[in-house]
Amino acid sequence: MELIDHIISIFQQTYGHAPAHIARAPGRVNLLGEHVDYNDGFVLPAAIDRATYVAFSPADADQTRLVAADFDQEVFFSPRTIPLKTGADGSPLPEWAQYPAGVMWALNENHLEARGLNGVYASNVPRGSGLSSSASVEMAFVIAWQALGGWTLPPMQRALLGQKAENQYVGVNCGIMDQFASACGVENRLLLLDCRSLEWKTIPLPEDVSIVIADTKVRRKLTSGEYNKRRAACEEAVRLLKQDLPDIQSLRDVSVEQFNRFAAKLPELVSQRARHVVEEIERSKQAEALLEAGNIRRFGELMDQCHVSLRDLYEVSCPELDSMARIAQSLDGCHGARLTGAGFGGCTVNLVAREQAERFSQLLAEGYESEIGYQPEIYITRASNGAELLT
Ligand code: GLA
Repeated sequence: MELIDHIISIFQQTYGHAPAHIARAPGRVNLLGEHVDYNDGFVLPAAIDRATYVAFSPADADQTRLVAADFDQEVFFSPRTIPLKTGADGSPLPEWAQYPAGVMWALNENHLEARGLNGVYASNVPRGSGLSSSASVEMAFVIAWQALGGWTLPPMQRALLGQKAENQYVGVNCGIMDQFASACGVENRLLLLDCRSLEWKTIPLPEDVSIVIADTKVRRKLTSGEYNKRRAACEEAVRLLKQDLPDIQSLRDVSVEQFNRFAAKLPELVSQRARHVVEEIERSKQAEALLEAGNIRRFGELMDQCHVSLRDLYEVSCPELDSMARIAQSLDGCHGARLTGAGFGGCTVNLVAREQAERFSQLLAEGYESEIGYQPEIYITRASNGAELLT
């Protein structure tokens, strides 16, 4: 594969020998259950066929040297410089380096050996596009350090380490969905995760549908604070609703009926945010039965409703995502279309009748370009396996 050959050749030039190993960790797309993972809800993602690849070998000293092929940059760090968030020369770590450094930090915190490595990495998961490029970087490096450390963790534990890195080192208060999907993906299957118990199962994707990803090319920065603000609004809603519903721990515990009864007591914006979450959890609870019954039409309607809710209640959409979803929904063969991931730009996910997927992609691209003025990137994806050591 081209990307693997690319990092192997940079590795060879940089270090003068071939890498000992290659790790791979995919991005993900989420079909239903958006902005509910940090509310103990249910999510339905799949790992996709785009991934981050790391070529690496153990280093002689405890210093890690890492080349980011996509940025043409490199950093040096070690367990001593990690807590300071600097490279070995004392300069602040560039943003991209905080993800691998954060993984080393989380491993150190958990007393798992993360020895120095020489590495080169690159990704074909577009950054800031809602497809979890950062989780894929984290999961690839957990696999790399696991390979060198002589310890083995189950995939869910590796996902939790990645989340810890992102929450406590990078500073994004994300839930578990992205790292989970990147760690636990299964070929041709959707993953259904209960974000409270962390129990999960796989559900087959009906044979006659394709998952089409449509990238608006609008890029967002998750660290911009809007994400953390949404999470804080949910926590505020739980705090206030507890006055009437003292047993609730999270919005997962609030039914739509209960919410309707007490919503008027919440500040307007908090109520809006919480309504999205309560209703989206209700929608995602229906997913399994609908998919098992092959009721793709109804499942697609829930996806469409999710988009409206993310747009109007949670306010994480943007005009480009709205156009992309609207055009898609008007096309033949489209069962459902909505923004996927955190929002504020990035991609939509579309469930499309398999035999119409090519035509759909072409018409969607044309429609988007004539409305927005530039070409989007649209591709039919495949659900893939989770993070793994390739060699
Ligand atoms: C980001 C976060 C996830 C999840 C989604 C929204 O991708 O990393 O934990 O909250 O947004 O569903």
